[in-house]
Order: sequence, then C-alpha cells, then structure tokens
Amino acid sequence: MGGKPVSERPWWQHAVIYEIYPRSFQDTDGDGVGDLSGILERVDYLAWLGVDAVWICPFYPSPMADFGYDVADYVGIDPLFGTLSDFDRLVEALHRRGIRIILDFVPNHTSDKHPWFEESRSSRDSPKRDWYIWRDAHPDGGPPNNWQSLPAGSAWEFDEPTGQYYCHSFLASQPDLNWRNASVRAAMYDVLRFWLYRGVDGFRVDVLWHLIEDAQFRDDPLNPRFRDGDPPHQRLLPIRSADQPEVLPIIAEMRQALNECPGERLLIGEIYLPLQRLVAYYGPNLTGVHLPFNFSLMWVDWRPAQVLRLIRDYEAALPPGAWPSWVLGNHDQKRVASRLGADQARVAMMLLMTLRGTPTLYYGDELGLEDVTIPHEEVRDPFGLVVPGQGRDPERTPMPWDASHNGGFTTGRPWLPLGKAHPAMSVDVQKRNPESMLNLTRALLALRRREPALSLGGWEPLAVEGDVLAYSRTSGGRRFIVVLNLGSAPKAVGFDRDLAGAIELSTHPGRAGERISTRINLRGDEGIIIKPT
Ligand code: GLC
Repeated sequence: MGGKPVSERPWWQHAVIYEIYPRSFQDTDGDGVGDLSGILERVDYLAWLGVDAVWICPFYPSPMADFGYDVADYVGIDPLFGTLSDFDRLVEALHRRGIRIILDFVPNHTSDKHPWFEESRSSRDSPKRDWYIWRDAHPDGGPPNNWQSLPAGSAWEFDEPTGQYYCHSFLASQPDLNWRNASVRAAMYDVLRFWLYRGVDGFRVDVLWHLIEDAQFRDDPLNPRFRDGDPPHQRLLPIRSADQPEVLPIIAEMRQALNECPGERLLIGEIYLPLQRLVAYYGPNLTGVHLPFNFSLMWVDWRPAQVLRLIRDYEAALPPGAWPSWVLGNHDQKRVASRLGADQARVAMMLLMTLRGTPTLYYGDELGLEDVTIPHEEVRDPFGLVVPGQGRDPERTPMPWDASHNGGFTTGRPWLPLGKAHPAMSVDVQKRNPESMLNLTRALLALRRREPALSLGGWEPLAVEGDVLAYSRTSGGRRFIVVLNLGSAPKAVGFDRDLAGAIELSTHPGRAGERISTRINLRGDEGIIIKPT
C-alpha cells in the first residue's frame, strides 16, 4: 500500500495545515487585535515549527458582527488587519519559506453592509434583488417557513421598507446570497480569481453545506432527538435548509476557477455532517472539494475501540482516490486540551500527526493551550451573547509568545483576555524546554516530513492486548508502528507478532532509542512511535 511517492503527489496531500485566527495571533499596532503585519513578524516561527501551509481566517473589510465572517468587501483588507500591500508582503514572506497560504472564502452570506445587499434591499425592482433570498410572508403572516438560524431563532428577517423577508442561515446581519443566481456565482468566482492571481494557494470554504436551500422552501422536520437544553438550532433536522445536491455542481465550478491557474490550488470545505454525507463533498469523480474537513475526532468518545472504529469507518467511507482530512480543533470548538486534558492532548497530537491524510492544526494547540474562561462582561462572540454558554471566545484567546504581560501579543489591551497560565506556556518558554508540548509537536512534524510513510503510507490497525490503540503506517519499505495509551494508567502491552524495533519518538522523555520486541510498558497517557528494525 502507499500509492505514489511524495514527488508525484499534490503538495496538500503531504502538508500540515496550520489555522491562524488573525485577531489573536500577533498585534503590531497596539490596538489589541492581531494583524497581517503580526503574522508577517511570525513567519519564522511558522517555518521553525515546520508547517507547510497556513489557513488564515477572514481579514476582509467587515463590520465584525461575526468577527470577519460578515464580509462587506471580498477583495479588500479591513484596516484593522492592514492593507493589500501588507497582504502581498505576507504572501511573499511565506512563499520564500516554502509555506503556502490558504484564505477563508465566505460564500454563503455577506454582511448586511455589503453594497450588494444594500442595493438588493433598496427595492423589489433592484437589479440585485435576486442576489439574496427574498420571500413574502407565510399566509399566516409569519416568516415564509420554519428554518432556523445559528445560533438561534428564525432564519428569516422581515425588512420593513420592501415588505419581504430575507433568509439568513446565521446572524440577521449575515444575509444569505442566492447561489441559484448565475450573476452571484460569476461574481464570486471572480473573487476567487482575484486572490488566486495575488498568489494564494487555496481556500477554505466557509459553511459549504449551507450554500443552497430547498428550491420549494419546504419546512424542516422536527428533530425527534431534541432535548430541552440542547442548542436551539438543533430543534429541527436541516434536511431542506442545508446539504442539497445542487451544491455539488457549484463546487465543481469553484474548482474550475482554481484550475485556470497554474499549480495545484487547494479547495477545502467546512462541512459539519455525518461521515456518510460528508464524503459526498468529494463530488462525483472527485470534482468536489479536495478536502472536506473531517471534524469527527472532535466528538469521538476518547476510548481506543471508539477511535479505532471512527478511523476505520472514515477510511471505508472514502470514495476511491479521495484523500483523508483530520482536524483536532478550530476557532468554533472547545480546544483539544480542554476536551481531553493536557496529557491526552499530547497523545492526540501524536494521533493527528500519524494518521493517513492531511492534518489541520489550530494555532495554540501546539502549546497545549486550554480554553480561557471569559467573564460575562467580556464575552464578545455573538453566539455567546445570544445563547449563554455557546460562546466561542474561550478558544480564540491571544497567542502567548513570551512570559511578559499579555504574552508579547500586544502592547495594548488584548481584545480577549489571555489565560492566566498562558504566558508561562508561551512559545518562548516552551522552546527552551525539550520536553514541552511545543517541542513534541515540532518533532512530530519533522518526523512526518522526513518519513512519508507517516503521511502518505497505508494505515492498518494492529491487534494488541489491552485497552490501547495501535496501528501501522507503511510505504515502500518503510514501516512505523504507533501505540497510544488513551488512559492515564500505565499499561503493559503485548503484540501478537514480533515488532523488533526501537522507539523513534515518545510523548514522554527519555524513551527514544529504547528497544522493543513483543511487549512494551507504556506509561499513563503515553504515545510512542516505533520504527521496526
Ligand atoms: C463558520 C465559521 C464560523 C462562523 C460561521 C458563519 O462556521 O467557522 O466562525 O461564525 O461560519 O460564517
């Protein structure tokens, strides 16, 4: 197993992607919000860490109702983040270090301050009226149907001046574009071209499965499994308001815009769907996104049998030729160290970096950052303001670079507080500790780059005694065995065959080089990578 060698694979199949939330990475002008010049200042760090590509969350002009996911101009830079020249400088600096750049493309909705929407809402006869989704009230006088928005409430907002409702899958200030309209599609493909010709290597497409809704505007059915206390939008099953088959030809058109450019440009889809539906987004004959983000590791019950079943089910569900994706964290979900604890976060990093496919790493997870509790009066995320407890601020706090006040993130007042423990977990402090999470992550990235068996090779589960997850990764003549203790108690593990090798890397100090044959004594929360000899 293993297929083509590295040199014949598209770059993104053997890449590690690093997500940057630009508000929180590095501030250079003292306003407490990160900026593009800040990322530029840190490109050497990214090269040192060993990532192959960065995905940067939106930095376009925006009223920031959803911190940039409400775009008011797709082809500019918000002054908060800098200028187009800063952007060009950043692209150049990343490329000089061999790091690719992936932008966030937000096609489902604009800001209500986007000139397109302002024109659309100005009159029923506006040439852009059909660029958004306008409907008359239901005969009962209420919204056209029962569709729900995120974080909560009807997906329809009544617009007094023209007497119709517009559709918004997210906030009322994020009206949905009408992707059935050919002019909308053409304008949005031009947005892709604008950035492609400025040198970007790909896009992460925001909420891709929401792009198209039912043409007949039928109601969503009730979710029979909804319980009081569940997030409000889960009251319905969004089978009419999302995940419609008409989205696939649109993705194929996006792919064509990418194909017009030389080089291998990457299209990733943000899609929260069960595995069987998720893999449909590779598209017929792989004409869909190259990588539908696979978020399932973020919810899996963290026990060997369950994790193993997930990997197997996902591998089995992949269409022929489709390349896997794995994600452990992002700017919308609790951080991995808060979900699993600091010790298992190390094991999870080893898992992420030794699975077949393309891993995406969320900034700060390489330091083992945990969610930061945000005092009520400092909550900034609209989701948290609308549904208390659903806020995403805790995982979006500033990156600590050193142990100084505010962790070297800003000279001003940070837009979100840093965790009290975070300056002590900073890049500067962890760089100096060979056993730190940061150095473990860096070693994993270096090993993965050196040994294509770990990224591209075949994946096979291994039967082991005891409650431990073990698998092999093989490519050409190279083979590695990964053994992960997902529990906190030490475990002696026997293999059903002779492994005869040496420990290449452990989450724990002092084990590299240790010889292994048919038994290993794993420490609690330990993961090891063995190279058979
Ligand atoms: C995506 C983004 C999220 C945003 C939402 C609406 O899920 O990741 O942060 O709020 O889309 O654009």
